Amino acid sequence: MILHKFKDQNELNRVGADLLLSIVRTKPNAILGMATGSTPVGIYQEIVKTYQQGLVSFKEVTTFNLDEYAGLPVTHPESYRSFMNSHLFNHIDIRTENTYVPNGNAEDLDEEGRRYDELIYQKGLVDMQILGIGHNGHIGFNEPDEALSRFTHKVTLKPETREANKRFFNSIDEVPTHALTMGMGSILHAKSILLVVKGAEKAEILDRTLNGPITTQVPASFLQTHPRVIVLTDCDVDYKR
Ligand code: GLP
Repeated sequence: MILHKFKDQNELNRVGADLLLSIVRTKPNAILGMATGSTPVGIYQEIVKTYQQGLVSFKEVTTFNLDEYAGLPVTHPESYRSFMNSHLFNHIDIRTENTYVPNGNAEDLDEEGRRYDELIYQKGLVDMQILGIGHNGHIGFNEPDEALSRFTHKVTLKPETREANKRFFNSIDEVPTHALTMGMGSILHAKSILLVVKGAEKAEILDRTLNGPITTQVPASFLQTHPRVIVLTDCDVDYKR
C-alpha cells in the first residue's frame, strides 16, 4: 500500500482526481469503479473542472458503482444512481449506457447480483476502483461479519451505518434497511484501488485497516492483500511494517 497524507483536502481531491484522470488519459476506454458517500465528492468536482477545461473525455469510459440502496426509488435524490448523476455523470460526456449501478429495485435481488457480476466480468477488470470507508470498516456495503461474500449480494445495513447515513435523509426511518453491494471478490479484483479516507473520526478505522489483523470484522483490512492500493487521507495515521 502507498499512503499519501494531506493537510489540505483540496490538495487531496486534486491528487485523487489526477490519479483517476491519468488512467482515462492513458486508456480512453478505461473501466472505473465508482463510490458514493461524501468522501469522493471533492474528487468528482475536480474531475468535472478538468473536463470543463476540455482536457479529458469520458466518451469511451465505463463505470461500475459499488452499491445501491434496496427499495429506494431510483429517482430519489439519495439513490446512488441520483448521486452519481448529480455529482459526476450529468457534468461530463460519459454515455449513460456505460454507467452501471446495481438495480436496488429489482424484483429478485439475488438475480440482480448475478447479472451485475456477469456484466463486470464481461467488460473486463476494473482499472481503478475508488473506495471510501465506513466508520465500522465497511467498503461498499460489505459490513463487518463472521464471513464476507465474494459476489454482489443483498445486505442488511448495520444500525451504525444507517445512523451514519441518516444525515442524507429527513429521519432514520427513511434510511433504507437493505442494500445491494459488490462483494469483496469484485472489489479486490480491480487492477488498482484508490482508498480515500477523510476526517479525524476515521483515523482509528484507517489504522486498523492498514495495520490491524486481516479480519472479516474490518472488511477494509482485506485491502492489505491487494498489490496496488493507494491511500489518500488527511488522518494522522502511519503505515507500520
Ligand atoms: C456509505 C457507502 C460507502 C462509503 C461509506 C462512507 O455507506 N456505501 O461506499 O464509503 O458509506 O461514507 P462517507 O464518505 O459519507 O463517510
